[in-house]
Amino acid sequence: DIEQKTSPLCTSVSNISVQMVTRPEKLPVRKPPRKPHRKPIGKVKSKKKAKKTPFWNIQNKIILFTAFLVILAVITWTFLWLHISQAESKDAFYFVGLFRIANIEFLPEYRQKESREFLSVAQNVQQVVRKYSRNYRIPVAQEVKKGGLLVHFWLVFVVPHAKVFCEECVAAVLKDSIQTSIVNRTSVGSLQGLAIDMDSVVLNGASFSFKLCYKGCAQDLYADHPFQHFPLEISATSGHLKCHFKLIASVGYLIRLSVVSLQIEADNCITDSLTIYDSLMPIKSTILYRICEPTRSLMSFVSTNNLMLVTFKSPRVRRLSGIRGYFEVIPEEKCGSTILAKENIGFEGKFSSPYYPSYYPPKCKCTWKFQTPLPTLGIALKFHNYTITKKNVKGCDHGWWEINEHMYCGSYIDHQTIFRIASSVVHIQLQCSSRLSDKPLLVEYGSYNISRPCPTNHFRCSTGLCVPQAQRCDGSNDCFDESDELYCGMLKPACNISASKSQAPLVCDGFRDCEDGRDEQNCIQRIPCNNQTFKCGNDVCFRKQNAKCDGTVDCPDGSDEKGCSCSRTSSSVVHRIIGGSDTLEGGWPWQVSLHFVGSAYCGASVISREWLLSAAHCFQGSRLSDPRPWTAHLGMYIQGNAKFVSPVRRIVVHEYYNSQTFDYDIALLQLSTAWPETMKQLIQPICIPPVGQKVHSGEKCWITGWGRRNEADSKGSTTLQQAEVELIDQTVCVSTYGIVTARMLCAGVMSGKRDACKGDSGGPLSCQRKSDGKWILTGIVSWGRGCGRANFPGVYTRVSNFVPWIHRYVPSLL
Ligand code: ARG
Repeated sequence: DIEQKTSPLCTSVSNISVQMVTRPEKLPVRKPPRKPHRKPIGKVKSKKKAKKTPFWNIQNKIILFTAFLVILAVITWTFLWLHISQAESKDAFYFVGLFRIANIEFLPEYRQKESREFLSVAQNVQQVVRKYSRNYRIPVAQEVKKGGLLVHFWLVFVVPHAKVFCEECVAAVLKDSIQTSIVNRTSVGSLQGLAIDMDSVVLNGASFSFKLCYKGCAQDLYADHPFQHFPLEISATSGHLKCHFKLIASVGYLIRLSVVSLQIEADNCITDSLTIYDSLMPIKSTILYRICEPTRSLMSFVSTNNLMLVTFKSPRVRRLSGIRGYFEVIPEEKCGSTILAKENIGFEGKFSSPYYPSYYPPKCKCTWKFQTPLPTLGIALKFHNYTITKKNVKGCDHGWWEINEHMYCGSYIDHQTIFRIASSVVHIQLQCSSRLSDKPLLVEYGSYNISRPCPTNHFRCSTGLCVPQAQRCDGSNDCFDESDELYCGMLKPACNISASKSQAPLVCDGFRDCEDGRDEQNCIQRIPCNNQTFKCGNDVCFRKQNAKCDGTVDCPDGSDEKGCSCSRTSSSVVHRIIGGSDTLEGGWPWQVSLHFVGSAYCGASVISREWLLSAAHCFQGSRLSDPRPWTAHLGMYIQGNAKFVSPVRRIVVHEYYNSQTFDYDIALLQLSTAWPETMKQLIQPICIPPVGQKVHSGEKCWITGWGRRNEADSKGSTTLQQAEVELIDQTVCVSTYGIVTARMLCAGVMSGKRDACKGDSGGPLSCQRKSDGKWILTGIVSWGRGCGRANFPGVYTRVSNFVPWIHRYVPSLL
């Protein structure tokens, strides 16, 4: 059954809940504005008359001018004072919170906000809290939780402007008021006869705007029948949308919300968002998940108790805005199991995060116990799009795992990994460490031979996978992290025509076997023409992605490379960071300086009229990931003198970016204003490499930026710097740093001296392609040990691994 009601959040709660308690006696006493002291003017005037001197003499002019200044000062002061006092009287701080009262049981009447029963509880709670601080009142929105009553409330403090207010302090005052019962060692404290569960007290600052919702867009939905789908749909084509849904299930059940599609403006949740709370009020610390971008793929979320609040905001509906989804009531699920593995080697079963395929809720804890039939067999786990690594001092962001008493942190990646535990008895515990819901996890398990993890004639990848030896060094990424392509030797044979003829697959296999690339020259791969292909003038067709604007002229008439967005070939750059020199103005027209709150912070590259590519680590944390304090400076040579400046509309950080390893260190930035075509002399996009483009060690490329010129420098350079660097063999780089993933590449000079440094991050590693002279964005400045140290080259994000990801957001590049 579903019961539907207009929420009191927008109607009745605003009547009973927030009451502004103005305490005029506490406000500073207003002093009447000082009267201007006019006496001297009068005196001077009479003197003037007596002496009968001409009125416009110097002295009088000075006096009149002084009088004018005094009057002006008085007027200004009065206005200022009025403004300040007005601001003071407006200072209300809103809080929203909840706690569980253990000694009151839920009555169905509590659902009726006008019922006598509800009003009596509400009054009770209000009295309790009012006793401790006369500045606030507690109204009640309630719902039941197992064994007691969960009370939601708004608090409002009205304080003079000057007083500083802290969220934690208010929560502490409330908690302090609850005396913990030491006698029975429970976490239940007593407050005026109410038994309050200390662990349940949550209090957060809130925005009052939550209460200003719109007609027909706030609902309380009660649902009882498990697994029945109750629709949740809103849509609008104009105006502004702001909706709240309170979803409430019977005690002991949970709520699963499934979002089928969501249409909003993508702006990092600044204006548009869908927020799912694990409570009935918009309490920040109970957020389960926020969606900031439109989506068309099904996503579902599960609450940790029988209630959920869903808020939808799209205040400036331009196109279609809305949500299509449903919710259902589901029973609580136990996660974990005890499994007896089979004697046969290989994956035999699966386990998953709780409520799979839904996002798993925070606070989960699952235990899986495995036993293999023989002591020679261990347990192998195949994680899908996930990996676990030894836990270090830092906490884990995406689940922590305890496996036979060792701790590991989980992180999401774009491929599968295998983890082997060399023991016949395995005890695994997963704890959800994140405060939010997290992406669902799927793990295959099976037994493996401890002494021989991979079958004979197989290579063991660093992802744990086993690939046939024959697939090593064949140019295809069978290990998913390219570990099968490492240590392959820099060159292969087959570089004279006869050898390449006898070893046919080496020719036109998309992999440069010969140093001079001879084996890959003149390779035209025709495919049947259809709407997925690009057709040249002479009816030859290519895969669109490979042919159109990839910088290689595939069509005999060159039509595939005409009108492309990054058509710049080497022009005025007569080249001659660390070990760098001044550039020439306009030499690197894709170079961008990103300013955070007005100061240069990172670099970026122009890839289209609206989009820039930079490093994810520039936007780490809540302040830096907000696009509003950022501006992009384009067509700039001397720091601060840009030809074009635009605010940043949206920042898309790669979803697998790992702040501990800097893996997937890439981010896209959308400008609020596209740069004008008229500036194309000074601003030009750089080409994105073709998918999976191989880089060749020893190749010379350039790094540019306004970053520090020395490790010891305290600030960046004024003039844009450039330095020529060499791409370094991945094997060498892995042996230097150890943790260099397939998404990274190294460049520099082994003697040190030429490198990027602090402030250059996000900037380009630009390589000019010999075949057509085009500049390709091969890397993004990411990290390094110190700057310019011998044997520690700079590490860059390998852009060729992210081409489909970039096209997901910037399809116009295709
Ligand atoms: N992370 C640095 C930044 O924030 C860039 C480091 C590059 N270091 C290097 N040695 N290449 O600007």
